[in-house]
Amino acid sequence: MSAMEPETRVLSQTRTRIASSSSNLEAGLARSSVDAAAERYRALSRAIAGRPLPLALLDLDVLDRNAQDLLKRAGGLPIRLGTKSIRCVEVLRRMLALSPRFQGLLCYSAREAAWLASLGFDDLLVAYPTVDAADLDAVAAQLQRGKRIVLMVDDPVQISLIEARARALGVCFLLSIDVDMSSRFPGIYFGMRRSPLTAPAAVVGLAKLIAQTPQTLKLVGLMGYEGQIAGLQDAVPGQGLKNAMLRMLKRRSVRELSARRQAAVQALREAGFALEFVNGGGTGSLESTAADPSVTEIAAGSGLYSPGLFDHFEQFHNPPALCFALQVVRQPTPDIVTCGGGGYIASGPAGADRLPRPYLPAGMQLIAQEGAGEVQTPVVLPAGVQIKIGEPLFFRHAKAGELAERFEQLLLLQGGEIAGAAATYRGQHQCFL
Ligand SMILES: Cc1ncc(COP(=O)(O)O)c(C=O)c1O
Repeated sequence: MSAMEPETRVLSQTRTRIASSSSNLEAGLARSSVDAAAERYRALSRAIAGRPLPLALLDLDVLDRNAQDLLKRAGGLPIRLGTKSIRCVEVLRRMLALSPRFQGLLCYSAREAAWLASLGFDDLLVAYPTVDAADLDAVAAQLQRGKRIVLMVDDPVQISLIEARARALGVCFLLSIDVDMSSRFPGIYFGMRRSPLTAPAAVVGLAKLIAQTPQTLKLVGLMGYEGQIAGLQDAVPGQGLKNAMLRMLKRRSVRELSARRQAAVQALREAGFALEFVNGGGTGSLESTAADPSVTEIAAGSGLYSPGLFDHFEQFHNPPALCFALQVVRQPTPDIVTCGGGGYIASGPAGADRLPRPYLPAGMQLIAQEGAGEVQTPVVLPAGVQIKIGEPLFFRHAKAGELAERFEQLLLLQGGEIAGAAATYRGQHQCFL
């Protein structure tokens, strides 16, 4: 699978429509996508020539276009940037400066939120619960400096631990309730295993518990993240039946979970709780989340870098902005070259889809027996392509933010030239989860 797929996909769709009328044109289109991929390989190789490999390369022009596309798909709602899918302070700043509709950050760790607050960011929502004392202390210190950090809860046990810490520290923690957005179909659990709060009454029950100690806890928001819509590809080539099934399940699930999110908001309102925000969604669900009138903001991040696991959605396609380059260090056979490094496997259910995607030159393939290795990654070259020892090959990570954990900086490409480098969290000696 290659990241020239955007072009290839567009071209092949065009081809389907015109195939019967012109086979010459078809051949021409196929050739032009191959030519475009070859040109992209040459351009990227030229841009990074002489730089130490491996390296991570972020195309700012593509990043900005992807950002605009996310905004367009969000239907006018603000987008809270999902930091786990970015993990680079300079990119966060660039996105927040790009449009006033990028508002606030959805953080993946409380200590991360506190660190970002110390760097000048504000309006931080921690998407996942924590009861760790060091986490709470770090957040409390930023609250005392006037920063806004909201913690996520979905259980009375978390509330009693957070409340006890708030009392000890003399602060009032801001809280958001996470509502379960999964669907249970006969024989299929369709969703994430996160919040136990499904019924509106359970949400109101937790809100009332929070309201019992107004000096130490304040409910300000609600989040309902529909991961099964936002993160599951539904247009994977060669999986027609599975795609059709998934789209059907998604349609049913969206109806159910939108109604559930609205019911939870309504129930809270009727019980006298005024919410400052209702957060939902992710890159893969911008359209359906924006259509839920109870949602006031959408979280998204992956669509910016556009990694391998976001290549095949029916509703949208963003070209890849982030890739990494490995150096060819040996050549075991004429059609196979082996690179140094490359074993950047994505988290989640272990499977081939978690492997890096060979990107450029187009048509390269990993070898099933070895995959992407800890210090060596062999690839089969496409027919007619020759790569010499010392030259680069380009790959893409399956997920968006995790690549940043493997590199201290992202080399920045703009107008086809290297325009600088941006430190990743790792490059700033930060490691959260
Ligand atoms: C709570 C929450 N919201 C939103 C997202 C969507 O993020 P992204 O757009 O990076 O896929 C995620 C991703 O896992 C998430 O956990």
